[in-house]
Amino acid sequence: MNPSLNTNKNKMAKVAVPLLLLLFFPSFISSQAALPLQTTIQKDRSTSQYVITAYLQTPLKLTKFLLDLGSTYTWVNCDDYTSSTYQHVPCNSSIASLLGHYACLDLCNSPPSPNCGNNSFLFLPDNPIKPIDYRKVNGLNTALIDPFALPNAQGSLTLINNFIFSCARTGFLKGLAKGVTGLAALGRSNISIPVQINKAFPSTPNCFAICLSGSISQPGVALFGSRGPYNFLPGIDLSKSLVYTPLLLNPLGKDSEPDKPLLSSEYHIGLTSIKVNGKMVALNKTLLAIDGEKGSGGTKISTVVPYTKLQSSIYKAFILAFLKEAASPCFQSYYNKAC
Ligand SMILES: *[C@@H]1O[C@H](CO)[C@@H](O)[C@H](O)[C@H]1NC(C)=O
Ligand SMILES: *[C@@H]1O[C@H](CO)[C@@H](O)[C@H](O)[C@H]1NC(C)=O
Ligand SMILES: *[C@@H]1O[C@H](CO)[C@@H](O)[C@H](O)[C@H]1NC(C)=O
Ligand SMILES: *[C@@H]1O[C@H](CO)[C@@H](O)[C@H](O)[C@H]1NC(C)=O
Repeated sequence: MNPSLNTNKNKMAKVAVPLLLLLFFPSFISSQAALPLQTTIQKDRSTSQYVITAYLQTPLKLTKFLLDLGSTYTWVNCDDYTSSTYQHVPCNSSIASLLGHYACLDLCNSPPSPNCGNNSFLFLPDNPIKPIDYRKVNGLNTALIDPFALPNAQGSLTLINNFIFSCARTGFLKGLAKGVTGLAALGRSNISIPVQINKAFPSTPNCFAICLSGSISQPGVALFGSRGPYNFLPGIDLSKSLVYTPLLLNPLGKDSEPDKPLLSSEYHIGLTSIKVNGKMVALNKTLLAIDGEKGSGGTKISTVVPYTKLQSSIYKAFILAFLKEAASPCFQSYYNKAC
């Protein structure tokens, strides 16, 4: 392949995608309506990654994706992709201009394939687990249009015919759970999965909910296109008992360039303090706010970092506070009224 490229990175548009994290174990799901679309999220035991299941290509094929709340581009390994319906996005098409012209593969000298087409719009997909080594793997990859499907509440598949996603190469799969062949992007972008579902079903709420479960036998679930009710147990609507907090924007995402700020595709929340055993941890609160000039700071929700990460000075303060409280006689009897 001999790609000749035109690059023109554009600022991502701002989209509001309300997010609900339901940290409960579902025992069963019931809903009478055709929407929401729903699918399982399984935690992979050896990598601690969350794996979401969807259907792609023609004929539809069950595909396992790494669930990423912070990514812009959904991608799939196109070195192993057979479909009778896939189409490239011509660089001069109206879809390409709607997506913001990123880069164009003008000429591809190999035989036509999902990875190779003349006049094909290109994306820059990413692996959040292992950074792509661009000396070994082609980073810019063709945008594809092909059917994507998810089960609805009755269990039948609902099709989105013109789903837009990015091709990627086998090298992109490094570090991902076994059986996973792509990444499902739920980030704040105008081509994320929830946004494309909403474009296909504009009368449904532009909302999604994910329930992350660590259990193998009772996997979690993702629901697209519903504000609730979320009935995980008979007669219990979880949407009524949730605590809500606004999602914040980081104006300087990691793909920003010095002269071109790009809105981050990650979801942030406004954490203001940390308490240990009910006592406030003394920390530099400036670090808890997003620094709009540097794009640093703030608190993001991640489905790809397997544990909580704290900035080092906050971590130290937290550890000190924890050790102090753990040594106090009341710590182990926190719920004892005498303490
Ligand atoms: C999608 O995002 C791109 C890049 O920011 C922007 O140029 C384009 O107008 C957006 N398209 C839609 C349909 O919102
Ligand atoms: C895009 O470019 C191709 C090849 O140059 C041309 O055949 C086609 O008509 C163009 N389409 C649009 C929508 O401009
Ligand atoms: C792209 O166009 C060139 C020149 O017309 C042609 O030789 C080549 O086969 C085409 N590539 C594909 C993938 O269709
Ligand atoms: C708190 O953090 C900010 C941002 O890194 C820094 O500029 C400031 O000096 C810090 N304040 C204290 C008291 O350490």
